[in-house]
Amino acid sequence: MKPIIFDVDTGIDDALAMAYALHSPELEVLGFTTCFGNVAVEDATRNTLAVLEQLNQHIPVYSGANQTLKRGEKKKYPKHVHGEDGLGNTLKGQPSLQAAHESAVDFIINQVKSRPQEITVIAVGPLTNIALAIKKSPEIMSLVKEVIIMGGAVKVPGNVNPFAEANIISDPDAADLVLSSKLPVTLVGLDVTMQTCLPKSKLDDWRATGIESAQFFAKMTDHYMKAYDSSHPGLGGCALHDPLAVGVAIDSGFVSTELMDVKVVTEGEETGRTIGEPDRKSSIRVCTEVDADRFVKHFLDRVIRS
Ligand code: BDR
Ligand code: CA
Repeated sequence: MKPIIFDVDTGIDDALAMAYALHSPELEVLGFTTCFGNVAVEDATRNTLAVLEQLNQHIPVYSGANQTLKRGEKKKYPKHVHGEDGLGNTLKGQPSLQAAHESAVDFIINQVKSRPQEITVIAVGPLTNIALAIKKSPEIMSLVKEVIIMGGAVKVPGNVNPFAEANIISDPDAADLVLSSKLPVTLVGLDVTMQTCLPKSKLDDWRATGIESAQFFAKMTDHYMKAYDSSHPGLGGCALHDPLAVGVAIDSGFVSTELMDVKVVTEGEETGRTIGEPDRKSSIRVCTEVDADRFVKHFLDRVIRS
């Protein structure tokens, strides 16, 4: 089992990625760390706890960054995509589970130090917690096994504007720090995630199971797919951004990668853009191709469990 720290900004595709990870015997999720991104950090923590409650899983959740590294608080959250609550308006009241007392940054540092070369970090939100952990304890850079990041758009256009992907533009300075840190990174960007599609018909299959958590996931994913109907008419479903990062942690054979030096633009109209140049000495593997059919099938076989 791979020990995982899973950094999320729970959102709808984050929630699907959580279920996929927790139902995968290859992974041992040690804890979830939360960051602002799709929603404010308090809501990301609440949503992470709510998803765990639905899945009947008691994994610790550590609350993290409420603002960017250098630019203060994020001003606008994508409510049209993830709903008012971040989970497609599915939440009914507060979860009864509570967040842990330790901070996300301290949890990351302490776990990585206590298990050198063992821990894989999967990060599917802005990279603020990882950047803060590196700043506070730079020695962790040589102690992490791998960091799998859902973020960036290297050879394809962005999804927030023609240049930038949402997780990177949410904190470009944090992304710049992490991607220039020499950490062993696998970058799962829009280059590959936009090739994955969860078709609408699968939500009917989830509803038909009669499983309570399946209704919860179907309702939130239906909301997400409606946003895709306006942004990507004709797709007939939604992309599986964050779940693909989990898929790569389970089986790196889902993707092909190229070693690249990746720079993050931090100023001007292209802020948040990830520019990749082939570099055989780089520590960053950029995912450039995906076996989308095999991955989507694998995800569907696992995401819903009774
Ligand atoms: C990423 O942005 C967020 O909205 C999603 O949860 C995903 O992590 C896709 O660009
Ligand atoms: Ca996310």
